[in-house]
Amino acid sequence: MQNHEIEAAWHYHNGTKHPNGMLLNRFHVYHPSHRPTPYKIYKNVSQIDIPLDKTPIGISALDAISTEYIDSNITPDLDALGRILYFSSGITKKIKFQGLGEMDFRAASCTGALYHIEIYLVCSDIAGLDAGVYHFDPKHMKLDTIRLGDFRKCVSHSTTEESFTSQAPAILIFTDVFARNSIKYQSREYRHAFWDSGTILANTLAITSAHKIPSKIITGFVDSQMCQLLGLDISKEAPIAIVPLGQTGQNMPICPPMEEINIDAVSSDYEIEYPEINAMHESSCLLTETEVKSWRHQITLERKQPTRLIPLGKNITVQESLENTIIRRGSTRKFSLESITFDQLSTILNHTTSKINTDFTSAESLSDIYIIVNAVDGLESGSYYFVKEKNSLEQLRKGNFRHASGNLGLDQDLPYDASVTIFFMVNLDKILEQFGNRGYRVAQLDAAITGGKMYLASYALGLGATGLTFYDDLVTNFFSPHAENKETMFLIAIGKKEKST
Ligand SMILES: Cc1cc2nc3c(=O)[nH]c(=O)nc-3n(C[C@H](O)[C@H](O)[C@H](O)COP(=O)(O)O)c2cc1C
Repeated sequence: MQNHEIEAAWHYHNGTKHPNGMLLNRFHVYHPSHRPTPYKIYKNVSQIDIPLDKTPIGISALDAISTEYIDSNITPDLDALGRILYFSSGITKKIKFQGLGEMDFRAASCTGALYHIEIYLVCSDIAGLDAGVYHFDPKHMKLDTIRLGDFRKCVSHSTTEESFTSQAPAILIFTDVFARNSIKYQSREYRHAFWDSGTILANTLAITSAHKIPSKIITGFVDSQMCQLLGLDISKEAPIAIVPLGQTGQNMPICPPMEEINIDAVSSDYEIEYPEINAMHESSCLLTETEVKSWRHQITLERKQPTRLIPLGKNITVQESLENTIIRRGSTRKFSLESITFDQLSTILNHTTSKINTDFTSAESLSDIYIIVNAVDGLESGSYYFVKEKNSLEQLRKGNFRHASGNLGLDQDLPYDASVTIFFMVNLDKILEQFGNRGYRVAQLDAAITGGKMYLASYALGLGATGLTFYDDLVTNFFSPHAENKETMFLIAIGKKEKST
């Protein structure tokens, strides 16, 4: 199917709903001992060491996640690229598990710790690195050389010379290795492609901002051209997002000939395919530059007039560096039932919901934010809608909804125990109408980037957080009539960590 045939996105979305989506097998089991190797391994390429300096450069996490330097002319050198890659997707901790051995954990959260998102770099000659196409190997902090030469023009071309991409000395390309995550989550994996890219991108945006390097998230490109450049088998690994870094003010040279590359690489040692993932991916591909051009436009969303507004509280200032926050971040495994403060919740909302520089919206996030308040000092328990443009919360219902919160988050303890659960919802019909099936990718990614920022903001404030999955239609029912016709894209729970964990 093609991008405009949006029944493909609805088929996938409805079919992968919890609990009974028809594309999910209720009896599927996954045991962590079957976890695929969470790294793409190249066997016959030369590698380049990436320098790594984890020293904080003096920007607080809250400032880094809420500021963008679009007009700065700072360009990244290899040292800066090393830090951008490490604080996006590097190994930040190792934990031993009985029977499973030691596991590497990364800078950003990832469903099931399956780490199915890979990052590639396409660059001109920059200080410390020759022009080329590289793959980031987080295990050894190296770059695998895929092509030598300046291939940026091929990326820019695939975005139809998107203005930011066309001036960038370095460009990151995020891809998703389906099988590494579908082993646990089956066809729902394709949602995770964007959730887990989004949490990484939140880190990428924050660390590039800490370095005052301009960046943008590009989602409109000719998919097949990126696969050819990176040598990907699209049935197994797919490009998700492009992130140009820095602005040179100079035109790019024409692309060298795109020769067939002879790479021996294993992207996953688990290979079973879920055709629904491939079908959803293919039907949201943009096939030609003409299609990309007509696809890229800015969306405007209508929002209901709010009533019963409660202005947000004060912003809290904390100086913890972005780098230390990322290194300390982890998903909270047990929340205490304690309250957070209204000022903490306000600070999180204020610092994470500012506009992101993307090619799909000039407005703030596409998502609407709904909140269940279980325990927040200074704010009555109940359900709320965040009215970004008025910097306020609209109370929808008051009451103790801990049971509902636990239930909506797949009957887990985490959303029951947390102080708040925050749901990102969109009117999917409207988004698909404007963007076709690719709107599904964009809506998921947009929510996950803000969710990833919320992870960082919570940790910067000394709180805990975790992403969660959810019972789709129950969330819509719970927040209706306000959320009628809206679908949930992402869920995060925030609270205080239980001391013993
Ligand atoms: C979108 C998203 C959904 C998640 N869903 C759940 C969940 O339903 N239950 C859970 O216990 N953890 C969940 N997690 C947390 C992951 O298991 C965790 O990120 C992963 O184990 C890596 O650990 P770390 O975040 O501590 O680095 C989720 C994480 C993300 C990003």
